[in-house]
Amino acid sequence: MTARTPTTTPAGGAGTTGMDGAAGRDGTVAGTAPPAGLTLDRHVNAADRAVNLARDVLTGLTANPRELPPKWFYDAAGGMLFDEITRLPEYYPTRRERAVLDGHAGAIAAACAADTLVELGSGTSEKTRLLLDALRAGGDLRRFVAFDVDESTLTQAGRSLIAAYPDLAVHAVVGDFERHLSHLPGGGRRLIAFLGGTIGNMRPVQRGAFLRALREQCGSTDALLLGTDLVKDPDRLVAAYDDGAGVTAAFNRNVLTVINRELGADFDIRGFAHVARWNAADSWIEMRLRAVRDQRVTIDSLALAIDFQRGEDLLTEISAKFTRDGITAELADAGWAVAQQWTDPEGDFAVTLATPSTAPSAAPV
Ligand code: SAH
Ligand code: AVI
Repeated sequence: MTARTPTTTPAGGAGTTGMDGAAGRDGTVAGTAPPAGLTLDRHVNAADRAVNLARDVLTGLTANPRELPPKWFYDAAGGMLFDEITRLPEYYPTRRERAVLDGHAGAIAAACAADTLVELGSGTSEKTRLLLDALRAGGDLRRFVAFDVDESTLTQAGRSLIAAYPDLAVHAVVGDFERHLSHLPGGGRRLIAFLGGTIGNMRPVQRGAFLRALREQCGSTDALLLGTDLVKDPDRLVAAYDDGAGVTAAFNRNVLTVINRELGADFDIRGFAHVARWNAADSWIEMRLRAVRDQRVTIDSLALAIDFQRGEDLLTEISAKFTRDGITAELADAGWAVAQQWTDPEGDFAVTLATPSTAPSAAPV
C-alpha cells in the first residue's frame, strides 16, 4: 500500500483530512482539527486502517498457527488499558525505563546535543518529558516530533506538551513506523527515541528491517535512543504479562473487540482465555488467546467464517527480551554504532544510544 500525501495542519489551523475514525483514548474523534499550536501530519486514515486491518486479519486468521500483529490492540480502549498496565505492580518495564531516564537524561542530552527529539510509538510521551527537560536544559531543543499510529493519543499528548513546553514546536505524525519512516520530518540534529521496549514486539527479521530503514532516514548528526527489556527470571516475565488484576488479559482480548467493531465480526470475547508464556528458545514472551470451546466466528467484511477448536491458540503479541550484547549486535547489523548503554540499578531494562555507522551492512538474503 502506498503512503498517502499527508495533510499538515499548521499551528492553530482548522484543516482536517477526510478521516472519519472512531473516538480515541481521550474521546476525541480522529480527523477533527488538532489542538491549537499542534502541527499534525496524517499518513493513516480510516480507509487505510480498514484495508490494513482486513488484510492482517485475513492473513493471520487463515494461517496455521493463527497470528495477529500487536498494533491492532491500540484503539481508544486498548490505549487506556496499556496506560493501566504501565502502573501495575507486576509490569516493571515502564518504571525501570523511567529510572534509567531519571538517572541519565542529562548524559544522553550532552552526548547528542539534539535540537529535535523524535519519538516513535510515542503513546502518552510521559517518560519522554525527562528527555525534553534535559535537552531543554542543554539549550538546543527546538522541536518535538511524536509519531504514533493512534491519532487520539497523539493529539492528547500533544495538547499537554504544548501547555508544558510553550516554547517548543510540537509536531504530531500519525503513521505506522513499519511503513512511514520515510515521512519523518527532517532537519536539525535529531535524537530519535524508540522507548518502552516496543521494538521487542517485532520479530527479529522485522526488527532488522526497521532498524535498517531508520538508519537510511538518518544523517550523520542524528542519533537513536532505544529502550529494550532485558532477559530475566521467567516467573517475573510471565507475571508482567499475566497480572493478578486481569488488565493484560483485557488488553489482549481488546483486539477481538476491535475486529468485531471494525470488520463486523462476532467474536465472543468470553470464548477466549488470555495466555502468557515464556518462549526460552526465541527469548520472547508470547501472548495468546486460547479458544475455551469449539466455536465459529464470522467476519462480515471479509465474508469469512473461521472455526476455532477448543484449546486452539491465536498468537497476538511477542515481546522479545534482549541481552546487552545482543542489542549491540543487532544495531551493528543495521548500521548503528553503540555510543553508550545504560541500565536501571536492578539491571532489568536497557537504554542504548547509537549513532549511524559509516554504512549499513547488506540486508540478509
Ligand atoms: N512509548 C510509550 C508507549 C508504548 S505502547 C511507552 O514507552 O510507554 C506502544 C505504542 O506504540 C502505542 O502508543 C501504539 O499506538 C504505538 N504503536 C504500535 N504499533 C505501531 C506502529 N506499527 N506504528 C506506529 N505506532 C505504533
Ligand atoms: C508496548 N509494548 C512494549 C508492551 C510490551 O511489554 O511488550 C505491550 C504490552 N503487552 C502486554 N503488556 C504490555
